[in-house]
Parts: sequence; C-alpha cells; structure tokens
Amino acid sequence: MNSAIILAAGKGLRLKNKLPKQFITINGKQILSFSVRAFIEHPLIDEVIIVAMEKDIEKLKKEYPQCKIIKGGETRQESSTNGVNSVQPGAKNVVIHDAARPFVSKDSITECINKLDTHVATGPILDSTDSLVECHNGKYEHIDRSCIKKVLTPLGFRLETIKKAQSSNLTATGEINLVCQCDPNANIYLFKGDNYNFKITERSDLKFAEHLMHNNTHPNNSTFDASNKNVLILGGTGGIGNAIATRLSHFGANVTTVGSEISIQDQNSLDQFANQEWDIIIHSVGVVTYNKKSILKSIEQIDYNEWSEVIKINLTSAFLTCKLALKTITKGGHLLFIGSSASARGRDSFGLYSSTKAALTNLSQSFAEEVKSKKIMVNLINPSRTATKMRAIFPEGENNLLLSPERVAEVATCYCHGNTTGEVFDLRVGD
Ligand code: CTP
Ligand code: MG
Repeated sequence: MNSAIILAAGKGLRLKNKLPKQFITINGKQILSFSVRAFIEHPLIDEVIIVAMEKDIEKLKKEYPQCKIIKGGETRQESSTNGVNSVQPGAKNVVIHDAARPFVSKDSITECINKLDTHVATGPILDSTDSLVECHNGKYEHIDRSCIKKVLTPLGFRLETIKKAQSSNLTATGEINLVCQCDPNANIYLFKGDNYNFKITERSDLKFAEHLMHNNTHPNNSTFDASNKNVLILGGTGGIGNAIATRLSHFGANVTTVGSEISIQDQNSLDQFANQEWDIIIHSVGVVTYNKKSILKSIEQIDYNEWSEVIKINLTSAFLTCKLALKTITKGGHLLFIGSSASARGRDSFGLYSSTKAALTNLSQSFAEEVKSKKIMVNLINPSRTATKMRAIFPEGENNLLLSPERVAEVATCYCHGNTTGEVFDLRVGD
C-alpha cells in the first residue's frame, strides 16, 4: 500500500504574498489542487494526506473530501514527520511531495514507487546549470558543479526507512538528505527530474507557473472533462489523429473520425459534416506520399500534377476545414491543426512538404485572428519527428529520438479547451 503526503503547511515567506503560495488560485484553481489531483488519480496511490496549518484544516476538509487532512509543524521536517505518522495501517511506502510543485508528472510518481522494490528511498534530481561558489565570510571558493544535484519532490520511501530517519535527532531541508545523513550507505535511487517540476518559491516562479497554467501546456494536465463534446477528427485513423481520438474518447467526448476514405481536399467533401454542431474540430491531414510514391524529392523531380494535388491535400483541406468550422462551431469551440516541425525551414527534398506546412502555420494564425470574436480558438501544434507509419518514409538516421503520438495527443488535448488562440506550439522530443 502506498500513501502520498502533500506538504502544505508552509507560510511562503519568500513569495511575499498575503496568502501562502499553495492556496493562490490560477484560472480559478488552487495551486495545491494540481498536486492533489495528480496523486488522487495515480493508480499506484492508495491514500492522499494533506499536511496543513491548523487554521486551514476545516476549510481543506471541505475542499478535498477525498483526502485526510492533518496538522503540520513549524518546519517542513515537522510537517513531513506528522504526515508519515498518520499513514493508514498497512502502508508499505510513502511518497512525500511539496504542494508548491504543481507540475508533478505521473511518470515521476510511478518511478518513485516502482523503484522502492529495490531501493529504500527514491526521488528526482536535477543538475545545476549555473556555476557554483561556496561563500564564507565574503571569501569565495569554486565548487565543481558536476557533483552537485538539486533534489526535487516527490520523494519515495519505504515506511520503516523514513520513520527511522525522522526519529533520529538529525535535521535537514528534505527527507532524502535526512535519510542519507542517517545512513550514508542507504540504497537510494535518484533519477533525472524535469524542469517543469519546479517549486514556486519566488515571484518569478509564480509568473512562470501562471503562464503555463493559462496556456494549459504543462505536463500535469491529465484530465479534461470532454463529456457531451462533439469532436470531429479529420485524418483520424492513423498515428497522431488516432491517438487524439483515443484520448478525447477517454475523456468522454463523442468522437467522429474520418480518414483517407474521403478526399478531404475536394470542394464538397466536408458537406456531410456541416449539418451538426461541433465543439472541437481537429485537422491532422497531411501526406508525404502521392500515388504511393514519396513526395520528398527535388523540385526538379516533382511534376505539376503531383505538386497541385499535394497542395490540395495538405493545405486546401485546411482551408475547407476553416470553412466547416465557420458553419458548425457557432457557440464557440476549438479548431486545432496538426502541422510539422518541417515548417520551420525548407531543405533539400522537402520543398513541397515543408511549404505546405509553413502555409498551414500562417493559415491557422490568420484564421485565429479572424474568428476571435466568434469564440473559435484556433491553434496549431508542429510536432517534431513522431513515431508514426508515415515516418518510415523519412530519410535514414532521422528516426531516432521520436515523439510518441500519445505525447502529441496529450498536448493536443490542452488545445481542446481553454481560451488560448493563435498559438503555434513547436513540440519537440522531451517537451
Ligand atoms: N511546508 C510545510 N510545513 C512547513 C514548511 C513548509 O508543509 N512548516 C511545505 C510548504 O507548504 C511547501 C513545501 O513544504 O509546499 C516546500 O517548502 P517551501 O518551498 O520552503 O515553502 P514555504 O516554507 O511555505 O516557503 P518559504 O520557505 O518561502 O516560507
Ligand atoms: Mg520554507
């Protein structure tokens, strides 16, 4: 059994805000709620305990009825000790997390828990990217930054390990530090964390968090209530389109997918979808082959017919999709295009493919401005190399470091709600 402890009893003095940082709301949601949701929804977590200041306990009990709320202490260490002492009987592992890190990812929670099978403590770390010096009474000494690591949260522990460390008389700013002070030979597993999982500490951190939350493009965006939303995905039978369809269906949307069985580029092809209201339309149409032959070749080798047909499939289909959106998204909604990172630059053999994708970028931006007053949010994701069937056609050596269609679908979901419009999101491997 795994218990999660979310530390929310701090005062946030460095942020200099009246309200402690974990209770500040962004887009109507409390910063604390992001972490709570990530742990409640995690399949490996059995209980979630929020540690809070005494005066906040009653309010939090109402706001987070699924959680146990307990009293914190004067220091973070006291708060986490109180948390550990209140886990339910039978708990084997605990995962401790700062409420001030709203962008915790599902993967880091999974990694923390899974590695406790073979280790006594786990957690994410980051390298220092800045130079470091040690400072004593105005004298500075060089520090080799390669051996200095920043410890983030969540931190996983076997219950007996953390209890032993907390019952010693040692003190530390974090529980990993406490465990390694208590037992320098402890079998600890630290893995590479991600920069999005930063701790809101200073004013600038809050600004950055606000930006990520407004855009909905952060890794902790696992849910989206899409029930009763009517979604049309053009180009939805393969790769990315299919992954988006699966994800939106999972969130409760009524999804209609259309693939190559209709020629979306033809003038009246979308008429059959014009008689109903759509909330979300996604255009994930694009070819790298025409008549079963690759279009990735020099301009010299491309003939007129090939050129005009591909322009129609890759670009005119997008124009027709805009027209469809104008007719059918009458109460506000979302139109999302999936382009390609190839739009950024033309190169040998990409003259045709890249130029259609570059044009798509401009089309989506222009249309976003045009329909702002109609409350149609228009955005574009340009994914870099993605592991789809279509990828096989791209030159050798370009197939390593691929994005997964599921990752593109995750980001795509962010653009299916909210008020962001006119955005071009360049999605790279690792984003
Ligand atoms: N924390 C806690 N109990 C304390 C102190 C801190 O539960 N007595 C929690 C904070 O709420 C935060 C996490 O530990 O989620 C990390 O601590 P920190 O960033 O230092 O938060 P604060 O102590 O609130 O901020 P500051 O140090 O600027 O006052
Ligand atoms: Mg503090």
